[in-house]
Amino acid sequence: MTADTTSNTTANTGKTAATSVPVHPLLAGRWSPRGFEAAHRLGEERLRALLEAARWAPSAGNSQPWRFLAAHRGQDAFTRLLELLDPGNRAWAGAASALLLVAAETADETGRARPWALYDTGQAVAALSVQAQTDGLAVHQMGGFDAAAAREAFGLGETLTPVVVVAVGRLDADAVLPEPLAARERAPRTRHPLESLLLPAVPAVPAVPAVPAVPAVPAVPAVPAVPAVPAVPAAPEGQAA
Ligand SMILES: Cc1cc2nc3c(=O)[nH]c(=O)nc-3n(C[C@H](O)[C@H](O)[C@H](O)COP(=O)(O)O)c2cc1C
Repeated sequence: MTADTTSNTTANTGKTAATSVPVHPLLAGRWSPRGFEAAHRLGEERLRALLEAARWAPSAGNSQPWRFLAAHRGQDAFTRLLELLDPGNRAWAGAASALLLVAAETADETGRARPWALYDTGQAVAALSVQAQTDGLAVHQMGGFDAAAAREAFGLGETLTPVVVVAVGRLDADAVLPEPLAARERAPRTRHPLESLLLPAVPAVPAVPAVPAVPAVPAVPAVPAVPAVPAVPAAPEGQAA
């Protein structure tokens, strides 16, 4: 087994994003692999650096709503987390060095809702991912897990919402994966064009007022039926009319 003790900034460059303009290599080089080195062990210092990066993420009112449950491969909690994953994720995530259950505290101690808790927690995981990339580690976030079962299995209170399970480890480009996972691992990374993400900055064009409805032309009253003219009795034969 190999334990991480040092930083390594060269990993995971195989699927570097083809960006429209240059961006930081850590961002362009990050991707979500399924092939992990099954013998790699995540050192405590490395794990701590990941969590520390997450800890310093910005959050609404500095509320810091993110919570992490970390388990190394081989630990009981790792096995329990693995069992909570959807089958497609369970097929590869067991080779990760650690699994993290990430939860968001969606209300404060007084019960007041934290509307940005999920957003903030995502930012913390983003920071963790970049730190992992710096340290030569790979991260793969998974929404495909049984959140209700996770809440139950780890005794999470009402205000804690399980958000993702994160696989952390060292990329193994030669890992043998079943299809269709192997094909996905080889596939180029894609994104929507940048322009398609941009909302128009112009004020919305006011709606054209609706043309007032033309009042309905009153119905022409029906012409009263002309009473039938009584038939003039025929003059008797031989009389002038
Ligand atoms: C919230 C979230 C949930 C995700 N859930 C899964 C998942 O359940 N299984 C999986 O294989 N990948 C999952 N991913 C990874 C995405 O599929 C991946 O980030 C996306 O396809 C872009 O690929 P890239 O990260 O390699 O650039 C998830 C990512 C995020 C952020």
